[in-house]
Amino acid sequence: MSDQATMNSASGQQAAEAGSDWARLRRESGNALRRRTINHIKNGTTDLADGPMLVDPGAYTDSARHEQERQVLFQQRPMLAALTGDLPEPGDTFLFDETGPSILLVRNKAGKVNAFFNMCTHRAAKLVTEPGRKNRMSCKFHGWTFDLDGKLVGLPGPEGFKGINKDDRGLIPVPAAEWHGLIFVRAVPNGEPIDVEAHLGKAFARELAHLELEKARPMKSTRFGVNSNWKYALDTYGEGYHFGTLHPTSIGALAFSNIMSYDNYGPNHRLAMPRAEFMEYSDKPEEEWPDTTYNGLYYIFPNTVINANSIKGGKQFYGISRVFPNEKVDEATTVISTYKPGHMLDVEETASWTEMHDFIVKVVSTEDYSVSEDGQRNMKYAPAGFKPVLGANELALQNIHRHISDLLAQADK
Ligand code: FES
Ligand SMILES: [Fe+2]
Repeated sequence: MSDQATMNSASGQQAAEAGSDWARLRRESGNALRRRTINHIKNGTTDLADGPMLVDPGAYTDSARHEQERQVLFQQRPMLAALTGDLPEPGDTFLFDETGPSILLVRNKAGKVNAFFNMCTHRAAKLVTEPGRKNRMSCKFHGWTFDLDGKLVGLPGPEGFKGINKDDRGLIPVPAAEWHGLIFVRAVPNGEPIDVEAHLGKAFARELAHLELEKARPMKSTRFGVNSNWKYALDTYGEGYHFGTLHPTSIGALAFSNIMSYDNYGPNHRLAMPRAEFMEYSDKPEEEWPDTTYNGLYYIFPNTVINANSIKGGKQFYGISRVFPNEKVDEATTVISTYKPGHMLDVEETASWTEMHDFIVKVVSTEDYSVSEDGQRNMKYAPAGFKPVLGANELALQNIHRHISDLLAQADK
């Protein structure tokens, strides 16, 4: 079956059959990645860029550049705001506050996801402060009420608002698009619609579609701050060079250091960092490999990493980490959310997933981000002319930094 036919059948009536196609494609793609990665382990090699790359420390410390990044990368471009499973049913609401304005996602009666500025059109109070399932949304300040499509349907004391047209006071929409379980929004009022497949690029989009994220269900989400530039925090997700040294008893005990299989998709990438357990079956024929989803880390430019990986006991999880810049150049917010994949929903317990979630949050917040915070501070006081260097083995980071600089340069023109 051609790729295009696969895509079409998946969105057509043969949903059951297509479901098994996705599972097969996911397995093939994951096994190909494991095969490459096992070869790297055996040969003691890793994928490499042409050479090292110097970075301007201002990329981490310059406030004007930071503000430009917030605008160009986080407010004007589509951002991953949620998965389908975060608001699965009509009337479900979900907040996405990390990209600047508070954004309200709501699934309407017909099942379509709407997104609005989470702002009451009376006097700009935050409309929804406690997301959940709702028929209508009422403002806690004076009780103006909106339906699931953002229309103003209730206004107490109407005699005070003669001459104000209710139809002009609907919620302010922002573009939203739901595609194979990924919900993207763009924080531009009344902005152009989002074409997710064009945004991701066809080949990368197909890899993400294999994961069947539309069936994944949320297990736990944690939001926490870090006193570093968002990129210093994000950089820790893009290489396994540091596993053995920074994480000797946590990640370093589970995965090999400095072995990476890297696939580039424009600004996006997929990165595999081999787990120690690969060696248990590396000499067996592929048909005998355990059927675990190991598809590596999918990075969606600029700030999102989807980890499709295994938990001991043959279980699998999807862990989504997103790093957002705060207003200050040296502060960022991370949201880590762990999901149970659709093909694991028949496993009733949830502890395996919440424990994995807690483990990742602990490692990131106490090990990775302690380095980010100290390094950020050092970068601020480093002598003129000092430039951090991204090695040829840190090729994923090179690509990210290059794309960010290119986009900022284009915006300057
Ligand atoms: S600000 Fe919302 S009802 Fe007044
Ligand atoms: Fe790390």
